[in-house]
Amino acid sequence: MMAKQKTQSLKVIIAVILVCIFLITFSGIFLFMNFKEEQFVGAINEDIDMSQSVLIISIDAFRHDYFECAEAPNLKGMSDQIHIQKLIPPFPSKTFVSHYSQITGLYPAWSGIVANTMYDSEQNLTFSIGSSSSQESFWWWGEPFWISNQREGHLSGTVFWVASEVGIYGRNESPTYPTYYLSYDRDVTYKARIDQFFDWLDLPEAIRPNFYTLYFESVDDMGHMYGPCSKEVTEAIEDVDNWIGYLIRGLEARGLWKAPNGLNVIVDSDHGMTKTSKDKVIIIDDYIQIETSLIHCAHMEHLHLYPSLKDDFRYNDLDCQKRNSQLFHDDSRQNKKRFQKNLNQNSPSQDYEAQVVNFSPVTQIIPAEGKEEQVYQKLVNASQNWTVYKKEDVPSKYHYSWEGNSRIKPIIIVLDLGWSISDRAYYEKYPDNFNGGNHGYANDHDDMAGFFVASGPAFVQENNSIEKLENLEIYQILQKIVGLKNPAPNNGTMKNVESLFQ
Ligand SMILES: *[C@@H]1O[C@H](CO)[C@@H](O)[C@H](O)[C@H]1NC(C)=O
Ligand SMILES: *[C@@H]1O[C@H](CO)[C@@H](O)[C@H](O)[C@H]1NC(C)=O
Ligand SMILES: *[C@@H]1O[C@H](CO)[C@@H](O)[C@H](O)[C@H]1NC(C)=O
Ligand SMILES: *[C@@H]1O[C@H](CO)[C@@H](O)[C@H](O)[C@H]1NC(C)=O
Ligand SMILES: *[C@@H]1O[C@H](CO)[C@@H](O)[C@H](O)[C@H]1NC(C)=O
Ligand SMILES: [Zn+2]
Repeated sequence: MMAKQKTQSLKVIIAVILVCIFLITFSGIFLFMNFKEEQFVGAINEDIDMSQSVLIISIDAFRHDYFECAEAPNLKGMSDQIHIQKLIPPFPSKTFVSHYSQITGLYPAWSGIVANTMYDSEQNLTFSIGSSSSQESFWWWGEPFWISNQREGHLSGTVFWVASEVGIYGRNESPTYPTYYLSYDRDVTYKARIDQFFDWLDLPEAIRPNFYTLYFESVDDMGHMYGPCSKEVTEAIEDVDNWIGYLIRGLEARGLWKAPNGLNVIVDSDHGMTKTSKDKVIIIDDYIQIETSLIHCAHMEHLHLYPSLKDDFRYNDLDCQKRNSQLFHDDSRQNKKRFQKNLNQNSPSQDYEAQVVNFSPVTQIIPAEGKEEQVYQKLVNASQNWTVYKKEDVPSKYHYSWEGNSRIKPIIIVLDLGWSISDRAYYEKYPDNFNGGNHGYANDHDDMAGFFVASGPAFVQENNSIEKLENLEIYQILQKIVGLKNPAPNNGTMKNVESLFQ
């Protein structure tokens, strides 16, 4: 009896010791993990409830079918809960246009951002990616989601999103920024971006955002340089997927992944990518006489992709700004003469027929005064691998004809998938810049479709796969998750996203 009792208490003592050893080892590993990843220090807060909060991550140019050309186990894992197979970008399928359309819920004609390179004749200003003018409020119409969110007393934290570093009015009296944001800098490592997000997530509740963004650009960079599903794109996808894994582990450590009180996480892309080649380039000056002094300005998108061109380019953003302004505003003959004299090194042709605003798969053309019909007819007659529209005749499915938007120019050229456009001089000098990949084509090509996966307590839990959705509905999705009461006027429809939610 005594002996039996003794053995039993010995067993209990051994069990207690084993449990202690286990706990010590476990917490040791736990602490080591945290230490190693420089993340979260401290205990999991059981009370934290992020079920009405959301992080949206944009992987630039992740085409809808990229799961087939790369291993991406973390993203694939998310697609088991919610997967929209084709996220349809706006027309045209460009980065700035698409990100801003998503976050305002507006078609580009009403969001104000109708191309990556624009000229606003009313304001006398030129917009190109990263230019100082692009930071001015007047370009950005509508109301980005972070402003709608903050108007209802919530906070936002953005580690990059198009327009997140611009003061925008929305429905406010004065320009408004996200509560916490970083100015775009492609040199900030992906780890630093995610750690910044974690720092905001770990803030005390009173100053913690309910809306976060992250942005990764490498898949787009490699897509432009080497084409879709190239080895380089595959590697970039696998790298980004690893960082998604790092993010998921950090959320797990906080008890916020796949938990009823967890954070809702969306990963999507702004558009897809298609293969281009120097054999498929339309040389516009073979058909019409274009104004030549501004050619470099119209190639700004290429300058953005190939920074090494900088040394060779005659004008920077500001020069383009000035030249566009002068050209389009100095209507009198006298002024025009003076202007031409100033540009003697590259003087505009006396009798040009049209000005090209941007060489892009959707190209904006301003015909010279009195030559509107002539330019249109010549382009139509020449058209082979493009379609030419007068602004008012752009098919209504593209929602691009609104007369209230003067940044959409009188003639629009829409290239067939895979084609590029240039002037002859640039093409002959840099033919290889046309090999690789591009996007920006009409949004109804499959190759232009992006993707959407999501995980979190706000969404339906079972495998829910939807074939397609327009990406301006993202504004509705965010609105639904955070429970926004008073959304800004937009072009989305809540009914289109309701099936995603519990
Ligand atoms: C989810 O549904 C899609 C389409 O119905 C299917 O292809 C996929 O295998 C499903 N995944 C799981 C984990 O059930
Ligand atoms: C337009 O802006 C340029 C400078 O960017 C300036 O030189 C020019 O005078 C302006 N024109 C008008 C009509 O405001
Ligand atoms: C376009 O083609 C039509 C029919 O071939 C022709 O009558 C017209 O002159 C052409 N217009 C121009 C501007 O080349
Ligand atoms: C270009 O357009 C022509 C005329 O429409 C057509 O025959 C040809 O197949 C097109 N080329 C390509 C590569 O799409
Ligand atoms: C898009 O939304 C804006 C703002 O509500 C509205 O003015 C515009 O007419 C809408 N456009 C379309 C095509 O519905
Ligand atoms: Zn993009």
